Amino acid sequence: MKLTLNIWRQQGPNDTGQIVSYPAKDLSPDMSILEMLDKLNEELIAAGEEPVVFDHDCREGICGSCSMVINGVPHGPQKASTTCQTFLRSFQDGENIYLEPFRATAFPVVRDLMVDRSAFDRIIQAGGYVSANTGGAADGNALPIAQQTAEDAMDAAACIGCGACVAACKNASAMLFTAAKVSHLATLPQGQVERSERARNMVAQMDEEMFGSCTNQGACSAVCPKEISLDWIAKLNREHIRSRVAVST
Ligand code: SF4
Ligand code: FES
Repeated sequence: MKLTLNIWRQQGPNDTGQIVSYPAKDLSPDMSILEMLDKLNEELIAAGEEPVVFDHDCREGICGSCSMVINGVPHGPQKASTTCQTFLRSFQDGENIYLEPFRATAFPVVRDLMVDRSAFDRIIQAGGYVSANTGGAADGNALPIAQQTAEDAMDAAACIGCGACVAACKNASAMLFTAAKVSHLATLPQGQVERSERARNMVAQMDEEMFGSCTNQGACSAVCPKEISLDWIAKLNREHIRSRVAVST
């Protein structure tokens, strides 16, 4: 199949950047977006041009690094998929495809389609951990956890930190990501020691990083490749209020 690729090219954080069009032919419908970019880059290098910079690692929907906006939608048109899981069969032969980086003040563009998402790392550093004693691992049966609690924690833990929720939100809010991370640990007995401190510190760091506020529009959850529910944002709000009460008592 043939496509016209309209790709955001930006030399660095201070460059203004622009869309550059590339005709692409001899593409297989079974290629992923990233494999298509690999092919384009080989052709650009052979022609002595700069390859397109983009982030990727696992290429199987696990690491969350393949952050880009495809035809205006973070991770593209396929529901519950990352960019690396988006295949050309989702597009029409001859179609124009627009590839742009995630856009948010807290995610500055590094180059082309790559953004700096270290703001998420700093939110995790602020509280996304549990106390652990040194020594051998505890016996798996020593701490019984109810089936539903384990299922709920796993649902929240599915967040891969990709940042699509921020890119989709008109306020560039990181509430869905922070909610998933706070709630995952607040749901489990192992997360109770730092529970209040975690909610306070992770929300404070989120604000520090210049993410916007949540206005309950739901664009975040709609594009989330792991279908993280808005219910977790309600849980984060409860956790945050609880942490403030814990401070004042
Ligand atoms: Fe990505 Fe979803 Fe986690 Fe946001 S909540 S970082 S969209 S996996
Ligand atoms: Fe790891 Fe896409 S490259 S999720």
